[in-house]
Amino acid sequence: MNAQTRTLLDQLSSERRAEIEAHVERSLSELSLEQKVGQLNQVNADFATGTAVGDMDLEQGILDGDIGSVLNCKDLEEARRLQELAVEESDHGVPLVLALDVIHGHRTIFPIPLGEAASWDPELAELSARVAAVEAAANGVQWTFAPSVDVSRDPRWGRVMEAAGEDPYLSGALSNARVRGFQGDDLTADDTVLACAKHYVGYGASEAGREYNTVDVSETNLREIHLPPFEASLEAGVGSVMNAFNLYERIPASSNGELVNELLRGELGFEDLVVSDWNSFGELLEHGVAEDLRDVARACIEAGSDVDMVSGAYATELVGLVEDGVVDESLVDQAVRRLLTVKGALGLFEDPYRYFDEERRSERTLTDEHREAAREVARASQVLLKNDDELLPLSGDDEIALVGGLADSATDMLGAWRAEGTPDDVTTLRTTLTDRVESLTYVEGCDRDGAVSDEQLEAAVETVASAEVAVVAVGERYSQSGEAASRAHLDLPGDQRALLQALLETGTPVAAVLFSGRPLAIDWEAEHVPAILEAWFPGVEAGPAIADVLLGAYNPSGRLPMTFPITEGQIPIYYNRLKTGRPAEDADVDLTEPPADHAEKYVSRYLDVPNEPLYAFGHGESYTDFAYTDVSLGATTITPEDSLSIDVAVENTGDRAGTEVVQVYVRDPVGSRARPVRELVRFENATLAAGESATVSFELTTADLAFWTANEEYAAEPGEFEVQVGHAADDIAVVETFELAE
Ligand code: GLC
Repeated sequence: MNAQTRTLLDQLSSERRAEIEAHVERSLSELSLEQKVGQLNQVNADFATGTAVGDMDLEQGILDGDIGSVLNCKDLEEARRLQELAVEESDHGVPLVLALDVIHGHRTIFPIPLGEAASWDPELAELSARVAAVEAAANGVQWTFAPSVDVSRDPRWGRVMEAAGEDPYLSGALSNARVRGFQGDDLTADDTVLACAKHYVGYGASEAGREYNTVDVSETNLREIHLPPFEASLEAGVGSVMNAFNLYERIPASSNGELVNELLRGELGFEDLVVSDWNSFGELLEHGVAEDLRDVARACIEAGSDVDMVSGAYATELVGLVEDGVVDESLVDQAVRRLLTVKGALGLFEDPYRYFDEERRSERTLTDEHREAAREVARASQVLLKNDDELLPLSGDDEIALVGGLADSATDMLGAWRAEGTPDDVTTLRTTLTDRVESLTYVEGCDRDGAVSDEQLEAAVETVASAEVAVVAVGERYSQSGEAASRAHLDLPGDQRALLQALLETGTPVAAVLFSGRPLAIDWEAEHVPAILEAWFPGVEAGPAIADVLLGAYNPSGRLPMTFPITEGQIPIYYNRLKTGRPAEDADVDLTEPPADHAEKYVSRYLDVPNEPLYAFGHGESYTDFAYTDVSLGATTITPEDSLSIDVAVENTGDRAGTEVVQVYVRDPVGSRARPVRELVRFENATLAAGESATVSFELTTADLAFWTANEEYAAEPGEFEVQVGHAADDIAVVETFELAE
């Protein structure tokens, strides 16, 4: 896909643009080489997300003009003080820009981004980012290091919680929405922040899902799988992009000129700021592609990477490189120009203190409106994985046993990237159910790490045996996903499965609420537990949102943004797979017997597990049912200039209102490269009353059919295409074909 990139300056009026450009050039001309280099140096103020590097004193560095931006300053008064040092006491007076990882909320914490992605609702993603921006900007933050737009097909990788799952198109739609939510329509406003699309690029393909591991992707996969959400972020006008830690073609992303200067800036037209990840410049030494920090600084500035997060390479080496004639000063100037443009777009030149207002902070933080927004997103993010015999929704009159430490754990509801979120702000499931149901008995059953003592087990069995229904909270701790939190085993930690087994043996019906930052390998649970609701880590409104679903006040509408494997051995497993030369779906594969014949044996399969996942991309149950009663295409043949209309008639055939996520996939059976069995190209939430029908219309263009062809260009190739309309990637209801003419 070729992005229609919108730069920061493109988003301004011509006079505003001229004002900022003039200020930037004037400022640039007044700065010494040392001061320009200082602007490119980013120093950490508080907690660290990596090994502490560099030894520059923060205050002295600002006073000396050796620091241009600061990350992780979480105190408004401290942030203001640092800004005063820069503006009023340093020689150059250039304001700082202060950054923080505001990933899914600042103080009002929303569901983790993977959970938010399960809503398949870009409007909700934009709302979540908007609220986060309002609170962050009222708290001294001008720059968030979000959204993460990493596409990943490996749930062992802990950072799948931080983005939007396995699909480039869904990730692109949500990344675009998140950037718009953070940046709003006017970056100078005191309730917007600069967004940062990260981690450029391919980090989600870390081998074996092991954190910070080698990445080895083809250019085709880089362009078709990992790049689209960055392009969608550029289209939303994202003002910064962050280097990934990983390699591409054995060259670290931070010093990879092919990725930054040629692809991101040259081909995609991104003219704004590239910031390194934590010490990702310095890690060139560990990667073994640079002799020393001088070589590191040279390689990164030449590649087009502008701001150095905490490595100190630019601060210690760049002046010398320019003075020695190794690096042309114009490279420093262009990097400084980009950073000053960001500061100008944020309005920091006119008023460097606009983001440091104590009164605004108290007015805008953790408001009822923000909590209601968090509840709305948390409700829409939940995925009903199964619901045998319509066990859910429960009646508020039922005698309910609530089991599990996670049902009572405020801290776990906040997820791994919690910015200013605190457990005190969280309403837990236990708190809400206690208030909302007639008869609730809570018993811990297992602690938050999944450990189950004999006493806990005995008490839980006794409590559940005497209840009409049990709600059992199981899953991971918040700290078992996120950065530096890969897991090789994806089953429920500890003895949770044994606890579930014992509770099921009481004969009391059990509904499990699953808290996780990733898809888990819950094949046993899927077979034995009648109802399972994936709640992810839902944020401050965890309790009310989950109770709304459990008690039927909200009909679950979430759909999986990422495949759930049967077992880790299937990973990587994802829906938009290639067919292979020996597709097993053509064979009648019976796993209970050895392969009967050549036709069954010599195909792409395992001997011990099926190829199919436990739950597919796009899967999600509802308390009602939906049928696609008609799918019609606007034409059977289109030319490259045409668009194709697709009308899908959807009916709510059940007895309660609900929301169906209509999913439209395309398949290109023959191409100059092998093409996936299906690719998501459109989706739409259709909310229908019981018995109501509606027609959901889509418009495809040939851009939706384009791919990275064997001619190494994006193009749609003529031929037959399938339109597959479905409830999920493995639940296609209707297939129609059309022809793309020459
Ligand atoms: C971390 C993360 C990155 C984050 C940065 C600053 O290591 O990789 O996503 O924005 O450091 O906290």
